[in-house]
Amino acid sequence: MADSALLMPALQATLASGQIGEGEQVREFELAFAAAFGLPHALAMSSGTAALHASLHLAGVGPGDEVISTAMTAEPTNIAILHAGGRPVFADVDPANGNLDPASVEASITPRTRAILLVHYAGYPVAMEAMLEVARRYGLPLIEDCAHALGAHYRGAPVGTMGDFAIFSFQAIKHLTTGDGGVLVCRDEARLAEARRFRWFGLERGVDRTHTNIGAVGYKYNMNNINATIGLVQLQSVRERLQRHIANGRWFDRELAGIGGLGPAACDSGAEPSYWLYTLLADDWADVVSRLAELKVQASKLHRRNDAHEVFASSRRPLPGLDRFYDRLVHLPCGWWVDDETRERVADSLRKG
Ligand SMILES: Cc1ncc(COP(=O)(O)O)c(C=O)c1O
Repeated sequence: MADSALLMPALQATLASGQIGEGEQVREFELAFAAAFGLPHALAMSSGTAALHASLHLAGVGPGDEVISTAMTAEPTNIAILHAGGRPVFADVDPANGNLDPASVEASITPRTRAILLVHYAGYPVAMEAMLEVARRYGLPLIEDCAHALGAHYRGAPVGTMGDFAIFSFQAIKHLTTGDGGVLVCRDEARLAEARRFRWFGLERGVDRTHTNIGAVGYKYNMNNINATIGLVQLQSVRERLQRHIANGRWFDRELAGIGGLGPAACDSGAEPSYWLYTLLADDWADVVSRLAELKVQASKLHRRNDAHEVFASSRRPLPGLDRFYDRLVHLPCGWWVDDETRERVADSLRKG
């Protein structure tokens, strides 16, 4: 990684400072991350899952509340709803891209619905115009799970700026990593103090501990200076990495279109994906996996549809769009490590019919 020359001295300085908990580097990372991605207010957290839990809490989700969500995601999206005491209600997805279908979201709203939690799956933005319209019409808070979608846009707006809350993950294999970590984006400045207390046991930081009072339970969800130092170094090169994901994704979009039995995912015309993974839809997805395995390129479905897990059994319902998407889904790697030669070999192999 090109960052390594910068990383070790930066880490050494943080470690030697004796201040490895939450401090200056965390504040610096929050500001730099928000500025780099046009976000209103970013609170650094120990993980994307912690940020999801915080966003659901701030959205008012509590025991017995329903949260409209997607089963086509990594498990933490929906596990966080359980952490908040809520119940995921799985709306259907658009079979062309695996993202929540706004019409199905609307049809899933009940008097117990407390929030909508969407995922820009694999880095492909949701049809936000229609989704925001539904959220506004029903007065529901909208949370964007942007764990896969750093650098993606919808009609020119960065993901994470359109909902009431958003989260990003900096877990090991994301576009930007801090080892583990995440960010909560909170549009309403007035909620920030509450979000900070939720992140730190319910305590007010910066106030003499013997003079603070916990009024509501909080968690230990803060980021520390070591993770923030890694994040600050990663921020210096994240644009280059994102550009390579996007260039590879667009290249596959062009080169794989028109091959019989295959098709690139298709998004709303305003969506500009950041291609964390490349989403390919194939009549015979297992054949794609075995062909690419011969090239030592790992293709897979990656995620298990969440409604297959026993813990979400009570949320199961017919999802024909998801059935169709999941039957055909196969993700190809398209990140910064995929060079021109590898992507040519992938396309050649898939063109062979
Ligand atoms: C869609 C999605 N949401 C949330 C998360 C949770 O992020 P973290 O692993 O940082 O807790 C992940 C992580 O892998 C994810 O893929």
